[in-house]
Amino acid sequence: MTRHPETIFVLTGAGVSAESGLGTFRDRGGIWARFDPMKLATPEAYAADPDTVLDFYDHRRRGVIAAEPNAAHVALAQAEARLAGRGGRLFLCTQNVDDLHERAGSQAVTHMHGELLKARCCACGTVTPWRADLTRADACPACGAEGRMRPDVVWFGEMPMHLDAIEAALAEADLFVAVGTSGAVYPAAGYVRQARALGIPTCEINLEPCDNADAFDAARYGPASEALPRYLADLGL
Ligand code: APR
Repeated sequence: MTRHPETIFVLTGAGVSAESGLGTFRDRGGIWARFDPMKLATPEAYAADPDTVLDFYDHRRRGVIAAEPNAAHVALAQAEARLAGRGGRLFLCTQNVDDLHERAGSQAVTHMHGELLKARCCACGTVTPWRADLTRADACPACGAEGRMRPDVVWFGEMPMHLDAIEAALAEADLFVAVGTSGAVYPAAGYVRQARALGIPTCEINLEPCDNADAFDAARYGPASEALPRYLADLGL
């Protein structure tokens, strides 16, 4: 009788949303192969050319709204419910800024790189749900400041969000699973080694070995929409 893991820490990346039609970043033809992140995903880029940055995120926001969750998102939502049903916990930490985990039914999603369907006022800091295009003509619904709204996403050079909660969840996990992430960006890419150091079993689910594949105890390769549901089913989830 295999002991069911009670707290599973799942880290997802762009690969979990790839089959929903949302681009990944470092695959062939990925977003950073077509656009320069230093010109579109940094505070300096936003300060220098806000219209170009806002337009880039408008296109991605429209893509998120037009996309649908895939079987990988659904399997994670079901696993969260089943694990809770037997007194356990699935801590879902995503690097993705889309809302496909939520739309698939996940109740607790920690977006460490922020959320594209939210906008933040640089004047007062208020974060507002935002599904429309975002331009400099938009005013903050809270303070009224015009031209100060940005996507509530984490840019290169900025601190990721919810790091304390993430570290606390990692420390109590019985199992660490990374799905659809290249292991190229820290601190997320370092979590698997932290898990190993804590004696936590680790598994990678990806199309192919990621940059830090050697750090994982186990791996399942294939599209997330197939490999993840199968893996979770093998865990009784
Ligand atoms: N199923 C499973 N894995 C897939 C699939 C798929 N259908 N398609 C692609 N992948 C894998 C790729 O093999 C790759 O390992 O998903 C990973 C995507 O890697 P990246 O494009 O680097 O995306 P990610 O790891 O999420 O990037 C991390 O970098 O630019 C920042 O903020 C951005 O959150 C992002 C962070």
